[in-house]
Amino acid sequence: MQRIAMRGFVGGPAAPTLEFGVTQTVHVLNGPNLNLLGKREPEIYGRDTLADVEARCRAAGEPHGIAIRLLQSNAEHQIIDWIHEARTEAAGIIINPGAFTHTSIAILDALHAYEGPVLEVHISNVHKRESFRHHSYVSLRADGVIAGFGIQGYELAVLRMARLLAG
Ligand code: DQA
Repeated sequence: MQRIAMRGFVGGPAAPTLEFGVTQTVHVLNGPNLNLLGKREPEIYGRDTLADVEARCRAAGEPHGIAIRLLQSNAEHQIIDWIHEARTEAAGIIINPGAFTHTSIAILDALHAYEGPVLEVHISNVHKRESFRHHSYVSLRADGVIAGFGIQGYELAVLRMARLLAG
């Protein structure tokens, strides 16, 4: 069951009309070391922080009635728990699993237990990097993958999510 927030009331004296804008919540989940975004290997990941990512996601989602809940953890079990929570709390998941992308069957299984759309984001172009980054378990579930667009990839994922949720 999604959380529905009602936004807006449009009424005219002659023909009063109720218009409810539906807000849908999208979870933006981030894996290990992404708390250091902006400080960690800036030549690869840039100088923007996760707070900047959150602000950009909110700005991208707002015109489409999408509310963002951005979370980050270095712990695999926490990410799995958040995916489980998303089953009842989120209309869609955008996930940058960090290095768990390449290792975690458990995160893949949790995503298989999630019914909404899933988009996978990587800040760097993982295909241009070491070969161990070329395989993603999460891609076996993801409805779309964005890599190498810097943090703009998150904004693009929010826009794609808006389209998918619009039906
Ligand atoms: C990353 C790519 C991963 O290979 C790496 O382990 C990360 C970040 C990215 O956003 O480019 O932590 O997911």
